Amino acid sequence: MPQIFHSSTNTLSRVSIIAAAVAPLALIMAGSQISRSYPQRVNVPINQPVPFSHEHHVNELGIACQYCHHSVEKSSQATVPPTETCMSCHSQIWTNSPLLEPVRESYRTGIPIKWKKVNDLPDFVYFNHSIHITKGIPCQHCHGNINQMQITYKPQPFFMAWCLDCHRAPEKYMRPRDQVYNFAYDWKAAAERYFEQTGRDNAQLPRSQREFGELLTKDYHVNKKQLSDCWICHR
Ligand code: HEC
Ligand code: HEC
Ligand code: HEC
Ligand code: HEC
Ligand code: HEC
Repeated sequence: MPQIFHSSTNTLSRVSIIAAAVAPLALIMAGSQISRSYPQRVNVPINQPVPFSHEHHVNELGIACQYCHHSVEKSSQATVPPTETCMSCHSQIWTNSPLLEPVRESYRTGIPIKWKKVNDLPDFVYFNHSIHITKGIPCQHCHGNINQMQITYKPQPFFMAWCLDCHRAPEKYMRPRDQVYNFAYDWKAAAERYFEQTGRDNAQLPRSQREFGELLTKDYHVNKKQLSDCWICHR
């Protein structure tokens, strides 16, 4: 007698029973994801007064991050560039573009452009850019591939657990300092260069990013013990 139901139906119904049992849980989890990430506006390009493109200025024109965010290595804040920085080029280039009218207006009036904040931590959290940069933590880890963004967005929520994931084991992500602006990082090539720069024996080359990172935590005197202490971020 031919089978009325295909043999896979059994598996299928089993799957749907499991799915039915798991669904409420998944919904709750999805719900909490939504409620946590929605107010944080993750992966949502932010509508700015001027449609500034990092993709255009960084990837295509090759302007360095520090040209516009010049305090990032020296102070806690990276800061968004003043209108004068834009006008160093746009007083000569694309001077008639309607998209740049708010920039010209700001220059004429002296009233800064009102950029909307993309990344924002609650006030009870202390953060500092310069320490992360000097300890070899790349922009890319926290801001994603911003060099490819047409309009800037936040690639991930800055939850405490996410900060702690690195603070508990920074070796997973640490790079030599000269690699923090590199968006096409290759730890092996970086390790070889670093060994050459520091006059180390190639026979001791690390076998993984983690091993390389461990070496860097020592070279850069990272105090791993205190990195998970509450007062570091809540002071
Ligand atoms: C030509 C100037 C310029 C260059 C070069 C530049 N930026 Fe920006 N950046 C801006 C401006 C203007 C804003 C504010 C508008 C926006 O959010 O897109 C901004 C915003 C940002 C933000 C979001 C700020 C916030 O509100 O949270 C980050 C993060 C950032 N830039 C990182 C970088 C990195 C990393 C590089 C290098 C790969 C870089 N920028 C290169 C001008 C620049
Ligand atoms: C080092 C030079 C340089 C600096 C500094 C610079 N830009 Fe530009 N920008 C350019 C060039 C070049 C283009 C045009 C590229 C092309 O399409 O050929 C451009 C294009 C643009 C466009 C697109 C214009 C259009 O009509 O499509 C916008 C918007 C813009 N820039 C905004 C800004 C803002 C805002 C700043 C300051 C935060 C800034 N730029 C700083 C060189 C610069
Ligand atoms: C360890 C994570 C981390 C790294 C690494 C990092 N940032 Fe940020 N960045 C943040 C956080 C968190 C904020 C939001 C700060 C706040 O709200 O107080 C931020 C904000 C910014 C802003 C907005 C202005 C400001 O200072 O609040 C800019 C611009 C920026 N970052 C640029 C950069 C650049 C350029 C690099 C690399 C040289 C970089 N960041 C590396 C986490 C990081
Ligand atoms: C990818 C790794 C990484 C991430 C992600 C990261 N940090 Fe850090 N953080 C470090 C390292 C490394 C240090 C330097 C520790 C040292 O030198 O002893 C540091 C140091 C700090 C310090 C100490 C600054 C000082 O002045 O003593 C603060 C505060 C801090 N981080 C806050 C944060 C917060 C808040 C977040 C999340 C928004 C975060 N960090 C995300 C790696 C990271
Ligand atoms: C590396 C930085 C860092 C360290 C260390 C850290 N926190 Fe946080 N904490 C954060 C950030 C970022 C937030 C805000 C984002 C969030 O709520 O996840 C936060 C939020 C909180 C909140 C508010 C939670 C909420 O749901 O709004 C509490 C309470 C808190 N932290 C307690 C602690 C305690 C207790 C410790 C020590 C065991 C600690 N934190 C260590 C970064 C840190």
